[in-house]
Amino acid sequence: MSEAARTAFGESREAEQDNARGAGASADAGFLWDFWYPALRSSQIRGRTLSTAMLLEVPLVLGRTSDGRAFAMRDACPHRGIPLSYGRFDGQSVECSYHGWRFDGCSGRCVEIPSLTSQDKLKVDRIFAGHYPCEERDGYIWVHMTSPGMRAAEKIAAAPALATFSEKYKITHLECELPSHIDHGIIGLMDPAHGPFVHQSWFWRSKRSIHEKEKKFEPIPNGFRMSPHSPSTNSAPYQLLKKMTGAPVTTTIDFVLPNIRTEEIRSGKFWFSSRATVTPVRRDLCRIDFVAAWNLPLPVTIFRMFAKTFLRQDQETMIKQAEGLKHNPRLMLIDDADRPAKWYFALKANLLESRRTGTAMEHPMDGPVTLHWRS
Ligand code: FES
Ligand SMILES: [Fe+2]
Repeated sequence: MSEAARTAFGESREAEQDNARGAGASADAGFLWDFWYPALRSSQIRGRTLSTAMLLEVPLVLGRTSDGRAFAMRDACPHRGIPLSYGRFDGQSVECSYHGWRFDGCSGRCVEIPSLTSQDKLKVDRIFAGHYPCEERDGYIWVHMTSPGMRAAEKIAAAPALATFSEKYKITHLECELPSHIDHGIIGLMDPAHGPFVHQSWFWRSKRSIHEKEKKFEPIPNGFRMSPHSPSTNSAPYQLLKKMTGAPVTTTIDFVLPNIRTEEIRSGKFWFSSRATVTPVRRDLCRIDFVAAWNLPLPVTIFRMFAKTFLRQDQETMIKQAEGLKHNPRLMLIDDADRPAKWYFALKANLLESRRTGTAMEHPMDGPVTLHWRS
């Protein structure tokens, strides 16, 4: 095993052991803070009901104000810690179920403490429930997970948006949970070598279709791109697309921190665009949220059937992997097939280092790289 791999895997193991020794929830769980993460689907917050979610081990309560704005607060009352989600929501503020303190949903600001009398000098509006920037996009409620103990920055980039290339298109969402640390979820997502073994299907490819591949990668801010190329000839759907349009098919795949893989496929006037994010729920649980949009003559039901099969195959594999990882085995990252995984670990480490030192982030790639593997 290379030193890089040893460090990458070794570090996450040490972090887990630290936490097992009771270093507390703020001990490094290998999460990347100050990024947007999808918490729930938009359809999961309706009317005056409060919904809950967990991101990066932070319990959240989410709702929607009467004028339609989604909000996210820490699901703990700042008075005595009872989850605010047990309280009542009137379309504007959340009333705690214990002593009735009320908090404005969008700002987290306390607006009422019923027990106060005219004698009291307590400044109610100086009290805040933990709250997080929240945006709704592509059918998800995105929450910007500010570092623990820090205030959300004044200016934050907009939440990620799925690229689309025509006015009309179909869109669908899928998700699945993985009993894994975020790092394993992500390197599983970008791993090119498991395809022939995990995703064998009559409609996609067989194990025998394994062949040598050469792919060009280039650095992009916070990530890397598999440069536009014609997709693998052993995949039936791509062949079909080429037959349909008569035009060449190109596909571009990007990975960017903290957890986003996007893929764009274009052929003539047809396009397909997808995004998978792997979101840490807890250190031992993550969730894949997959959204795809296209203007191809492809029915949503058919696409979902195939995509669900794929996700299930990945999920079943990672459930099995978690069995092995329980016993803390030594692991390896090999060239070239695991090089994207090495870049991920290096990007993550370099980002943390640049934040720590306040200097520009160093990119682990100097320039374009060609990788070879069989899959
Ligand atoms: S615990 Fe929430 S108001 Fe007291
Ligand atoms: Fe997979």
